[in-house]
Amino acid sequence: PLIHVLNGPNLNLLGKRQPEIYGRETLADLEAMCRDAAAPHQIRFLQSNWEGQIVDWIHEARDEAAGIVINPAALTHTSVAVLDALNAFDGPVIEVHISQIHKREPFRHHSYVSKRADGVIAGLGLGGYVAALRHMATLV
Ligand code: DQA
Repeated sequence: PLIHVLNGPNLNLLGKRQPEIYGRETLADLEAMCRDAAAPHQIRFLQSNWEGQIVDWIHEARDEAAGIVINPAALTHTSVAVLDALNAFDGPVIEVHISQIHKREPFRHHSYVSKRADGVIAGLGLGGYVAALRHMATLV
């Protein structure tokens, strides 16, 4: 079964923005790690800076994907629309954050997406995606 790996705003700059927080590996490095971790399952690895695009991809997952691994990035803390879209998806959802959001500014402590996520990983760096996909592979 196919697993969607969705990445929200600014994650295209992974490896370049705030490397002290998000590390020096790029989104392409992350995609390669995710493909390895998900094997033998296939992944659809996507990133957008646009909330509506993330919502559209979650809708597409209804027909295409057995599960979703999502780092909603800043949309985590703001988007009822992403939460509502995930509530319209029936399979397992795992929320991933590269940084440990609970150690950071108070506005990062609340997650709308956590109201739907079956599991939440924060602070393991890119390894959080690997852990999420290995677990997802046991569910789908
Ligand atoms: C993030 C944490 C968010 O607070 C932030 O807006 C991001 C990335 C993370 O992966 O640590 O863009 O989701």
